[in-house]
Amino acid sequence: MCGIVGYTGKQSAQDVLLAGLKHMEYRGYDSAGIALVANDELVTYKKAGKLNNLQQVLANENVPLSNCGIGHTRWATHGAPNDLNAHPHLDEANKIAIIHNGIIENFAQLRTELTANGVKLQSETDTEVVAHLLAAELKNSELDLVAAMRLVCRRLSGAFTLVAISAANPNLIVGARRNSPLVVGLGDGENFLASDVSAFIAYTKNALELGQDQVVEITRDSVKVTDFSGNEVAPKPFTVTWDAAAAEKGGFELFMLKEIADQPKAISDTLLGRINDSQIQLTELAELKSALISAEHILILACGTALHAGLIAKYAFETWTQIPTSVEFASEFRYRDPVIAANTLCIVISQSGETMDTLMALRHAKAGGAKVVAVCNTQVATIARESDAVLYTHAGPEIAVASTKAFLTQIVALYLIGWQIATLKGHKSGSETAQFVTELSALPAAVDLVLDTVEDVRNLARELAEKQSVLFIGRGVGYGVALEGALKLKELAYMHAEGFPAGELKHGPIALVEDQLLIIVIVPSPTQQQILHEKIISNIQEVRARGGLILAIAVEDDHIIDEFANFVVRVPHLNALLQPIASVIPLQVFACEMATARGHDVDQPRNLAKSVTVE
Ligand code: AGP
Repeated sequence: MCGIVGYTGKQSAQDVLLAGLKHMEYRGYDSAGIALVANDELVTYKKAGKLNNLQQVLANENVPLSNCGIGHTRWATHGAPNDLNAHPHLDEANKIAIIHNGIIENFAQLRTELTANGVKLQSETDTEVVAHLLAAELKNSELDLVAAMRLVCRRLSGAFTLVAISAANPNLIVGARRNSPLVVGLGDGENFLASDVSAFIAYTKNALELGQDQVVEITRDSVKVTDFSGNEVAPKPFTVTWDAAAAEKGGFELFMLKEIADQPKAISDTLLGRINDSQIQLTELAELKSALISAEHILILACGTALHAGLIAKYAFETWTQIPTSVEFASEFRYRDPVIAANTLCIVISQSGETMDTLMALRHAKAGGAKVVAVCNTQVATIARESDAVLYTHAGPEIAVASTKAFLTQIVALYLIGWQIATLKGHKSGSETAQFVTELSALPAAVDLVLDTVEDVRNLARELAEKQSVLFIGRGVGYGVALEGALKLKELAYMHAEGFPAGELKHGPIALVEDQLLIIVIVPSPTQQQILHEKIISNIQEVRARGGLILAIAVEDDHIIDEFANFVVRVPHLNALLQPIASVIPLQVFACEMATARGHDVDQPRNLAKSVTVE
């Protein structure tokens, strides 16, 4: 939440910052702002709304040339999303500019203290206190901006990434982090700070990972990292594997459409290097081998779409490993008294690897003795770093706020883990694995086939665009797909949409059914899951008897469904546990088109941010 970028080097800082913010706008788009050091002064430009608004302001200003500055795109927490609350924030003398991601939990107390000392705060944000606290520390002439930042950070509680510049140091940027992300990009005669690598991959793939409670100071030629007490620490270098082009729209109208189309490749990339000689090899889990073998409980923690991937994987885990598996909302987990039994293997799932709810749940599970495996998409994210092992989904950068390719690759990665555990426990033979590997390897081609139907689904969505409410029902793994379809529709089309296990309808939700209400049904295969298929046909009948309109997502050879559905979208017939990989795609496209038809911003839906780094 909130995107941060800092640049010092030889290029125009304004250009680099705006390009970086464009790539990080998915983190928040309530306002955007930049501060530049020019002629020993700070100049600041900020504007409520999307980055475009700021760009228009800048186009009408005589912006001084600067090679050092900071930029911010905001997801509002404290204070309305207006110009005043936009970052950067300044001290009273306009000599220090600060940007922030996270929440400073003790800001009210700090604000009272500053006000008592005569400081006049300009905004309603928690961030602004930091600018004034830095200024207060810098009144002590012995201190520089870095030392002041360390002292201030020690007074803050909560989660923060802070990045500051000062008029007195035209080439220096100081950053600090606790529980929020910050990475360093290493260029030639230029250096970068950013919330994530997408802000600088166009310039460099060489990066440094920062640890918890660290302060970094960058100039165009140097990088130094210390802890909050000033002890120097060696940051961990890494090479960014994402391609700069992958963070562009590549000819598509929307990032979401591009990311839907990316799915076959995302799945192949996630399987790449993990299958050898028809067997699954997850070297990433090698060190956890004994924990996997002795696992007696599997606990999956995640939020939103990632949680739905976990709900689907639960069916596979229990079928293959015979280990009881529970799936929990990460946001709820640590606020009750969860029993973490001995030999619990915890699996946390997060595209961004920075979701605060998931991170906190991970820490709680770890403290309770669980071994933790992360399924993440973003390199060196906090969740990946704090887990005992990480299996990366190689989906590439996912920019649209609504998750698509990350979801499919999460299911694939989870299935690899589940199968690996089943194999280690002696439940799967080499020939069964070879058969499963064949099915996994066929997934990209199957997804390609689903993508051939995109235009039909878009047409259908346009036809149904006037609907106000949609119910989604499914059984077994289809339930997770139903939840995901409903979430996509809510977040993109701002419609009432709810997912239910099909059998639950009659226990209450069927009261919602009235003439022409649209019900999207994830239909199990009539051959592989005959009983479930029969049951869902009954559920469809119950709905139709009350005037409901049925849109069925059914496998290609299900001819029974034609008689019972008003609309049918066909998907390739896969192994029942793999079926969600195909069935969810029409729902992604449907939601995307519904939102477009209603005139909404698909890539940046209202009130949301891609990476939710507050609890
Ligand atoms: C789904 O489309 C979402 N934008 C959201 O539910 C997301 O999946 C959730 O916030 C978890 O994010 P993470 O995978 O980065 O942890």
